Amino acid sequence: MNASGHVGSETEQPAARAPRPEDRPGRPCAGRWVAESRGPRPTPYHDSVLSTVLAPLRLGPVVAPTPVVLAPMAGITNAAYRQLCREQAELGAGGVADGPAGLFVCEMITSRGIIERDHKTMSMLQFDPGEQVRSVQLYGVDPAIMARGTEILCNEFGVTHVDLNFGCPVPKVTRKGGGAALPWKRDLLAAILRSVVAAAAPYDVPVTCKTRMGIDTDHQTYLDAGRIAEQSGVAAIALHGRTAQQSYSGEADWEAIARLKQAVSIPVLGNGDIWEASDALRMVEQTGVDGVVVGRGCLGRPWLFRDLADAFAGRDTKTLPNLGEVAAMVRRHAELLAGLSGSERALLDLRKHMAWYFKGFPVGGEVRRALAMVTSFDDLDEHLAKLDPAEPFPVAELGSPRGRRGHPRGKVVLPQGWLDDESGCGLDLADAEVGVSGG
Ligand SMILES: Cc1cc2nc3c(=O)[nH]c(=O)nc-3n(C[C@H](O)[C@H](O)[C@H](O)COP(=O)(O)O)c2cc1C
Repeated sequence: MNASGHVGSETEQPAARAPRPEDRPGRPCAGRWVAESRGPRPTPYHDSVLSTVLAPLRLGPVVAPTPVVLAPMAGITNAAYRQLCREQAELGAGGVADGPAGLFVCEMITSRGIIERDHKTMSMLQFDPGEQVRSVQLYGVDPAIMARGTEILCNEFGVTHVDLNFGCPVPKVTRKGGGAALPWKRDLLAAILRSVVAAAAPYDVPVTCKTRMGIDTDHQTYLDAGRIAEQSGVAAIALHGRTAQQSYSGEADWEAIARLKQAVSIPVLGNGDIWEASDALRMVEQTGVDGVVVGRGCLGRPWLFRDLADAFAGRDTKTLPNLGEVAAMVRRHAELLAGLSGSERALLDLRKHMAWYFKGFPVGGEVRRALAMVTSFDDLDEHLAKLDPAEPFPVAELGSPRGRRGHPRGKVVLPQGWLDDESGCGLDLADAEVGVSGG
């Protein structure tokens, strides 16, 4: 047993590292940038020792001692946010010594965007030097194009983990047969998974997939998707316990996650409604999953990854930053974003995070509005300075939902006749990749 309480074999290679672009002289390296010094360290409180200690997450050669995944979130999980979350996770038990303190997945990119070298897609393929695992979520509908996209990711961008998106519920995606609609076409799903796994194999890069329970209650796909993934050489499957029809409404169905775990032999990652580290442990206990995927719970709270890293090492930590520490995190977030895309875009991007960071703190409407409209770092500093740094964390916020919620969709929009057969091979779904940006 190692220092963080994880059991590991001597032959195991923590986070074996695939070649990176900078290892290959003459290869282009998109968006390299230098990390700043380590980020803020908000105040943690340690209560007790917990009994749930899970084995490291193993995806082929990638071994993450903390079996926690930052959910891919379009517009959120860029290199800056991943770094912020990872730094917090590394403050938790085990630190970096044992391997990556979780998996931090890049926001979704389309396979067509990669092979067409679309400017926006390329700009999203940025990694900070501290990312031991370069993890990218790929979206697409065509086995050959996805395989080519995967090959480029592995060969040119040193990507070491590819996740495939079969869970997007937004109408403009399902209408064309993509995202959560696609697993209905079992043969097409199998063809995509097999071709991507084959494309990643020469680079020893594990492929995972992420899906929802299905289109709606009457058209569930997750158990078949799990079996197909298993037969196709996929390293793990993540299940968000909702259907596309549910969108983000109601509660995630953890029983479905447990059923999937029972049905397949590959690792299953549970996703949906983890707001605190204690929820993650509860999900593991209730479903038997091999790891958890955390999305909305970390919005405006990158320090949740510290609590998660501690929790999976048997330590009960609640990081409760005061307002001054939150302001420092916001400043750090802004700096990291500016390192990616310049100050102007950074501050625009930061706007959507402001309400999440200050949720529950007694910050007046005027200051909130001003913070959400800053146009320069001077502006940002001026407004952050107005906050009372000693204001304690609003503990009433703990355990409560944040981010997207909304209502169920009336009916999931699908291509004409989509539900009539379950094959899908030979369909021309080229349109399904146009104008897609996550979900
Ligand atoms: C803003 C936002 C963007 C998202 N983008 C993606 C995406 O690009 N790919 C994906 O698989 N899921 C995406 N999701 C879904 C999350 O990965 C996750 O499955 C979902 O939020 C449920 O987990 P949670 O309850 O922990 O938030 C997104 C969710 C949000 C809130």
